[in-house]
Amino acid sequence: MALLEISNLTKTFGGLKAISGVTFSLAQGQIMSIIGPNGAGKTTLFNTLTGIYRPNKGAIVFNGKSLVGRRPDQIAASGIARTFQNIRLFPDMSVVENILVGMHVHFRQNPIQTLLRLPTFMREEAEAERKAVELMHYVGLNGVGNETAKNLPYGMQRRLEIARALAADPKLLLLDEPAAGMNPQESEEITKLFRNIRDQKGITILLIEHDMRVVMKISEHICVMDYGEKIAEGSPAEIRSNTRVIEAYLGRGAAEELHLETSA
Ligand SMILES: Nc1ncnc2c1ncn2[C@@H]1O[C@H](COP(=O)(O)OP(=O)(O)OP(=O)(O)O)[C@@H](O)[C@H]1O
Ligand SMILES: [Mg+2]
Repeated sequence: MALLEISNLTKTFGGLKAISGVTFSLAQGQIMSIIGPNGAGKTTLFNTLTGIYRPNKGAIVFNGKSLVGRRPDQIAASGIARTFQNIRLFPDMSVVENILVGMHVHFRQNPIQTLLRLPTFMREEAEAERKAVELMHYVGLNGVGNETAKNLPYGMQRRLEIARALAADPKLLLLDEPAAGMNPQESEEITKLFRNIRDQKGITILLIEHDMRVVMKISEHICVMDYGEKIAEGSPAEIRSNTRVIEAYLGRGAAEELHLETSA
């Protein structure tokens, strides 16, 4: 059984079909990418998956349960964590505090206990902090636990978002352009981190990314979207040579020109 099954998903904004009848599935432990030109509907797909938007049509089944109509917090608690295209951290909180926020989906404490600082809370808090520091190191952030998030360089903020997402102990991790704004060395390092997250933690990864070095290196399967529709899916090698994909990126006739160039 697939971990995530999306069928005939449609989401419109007024007259605009941001997602149009998209179907795909993701197996447990897979690393899959969603690519496509700007405005293709990739982020909208994540927003629909995580309950920010309700689809107009179609089904989303995660771990055997339908997610349609569920609230974002319920979806997070069911095991889906994400990062955002525009980094969303608590800018004035420390690195460790930001990671602790990611854990809250699973805290058993109720607010009264927290207020009274009962012994169970103190134990949970110490354990949570230990786990936060461990995650901080795991994503490659060292010695910055007490730094204010907004003072971190951009690449480190991206890593912090990943740590925060991992803090929720997800089964599925959604990453929206995590390598955006990174230099080649940084994006190579982050690609390794994604592979470790899957290999060591067994977390399934769905990745939106424009950086083709990252996409082609790490993806086992790629879905291509254009104008809200899935126009292709397959292995990196299949996608790289798909005429419709090349045309979506470079315009009509591009595939023909490319073909002429490579065969010339
Ligand atoms: N809340 C919204 N209200 C109205 N239109 C929206 C909304 N969110 C997205 N759109 C539109 O839906 C389409 C898909 O947008 P989306 O952000 O999903 O694209 P994307 O594939 O993530 O693009 P990019 O690569 O630039 O991030 C765009 O035309 C966008 O303007
Ligand atoms: Mg986007």
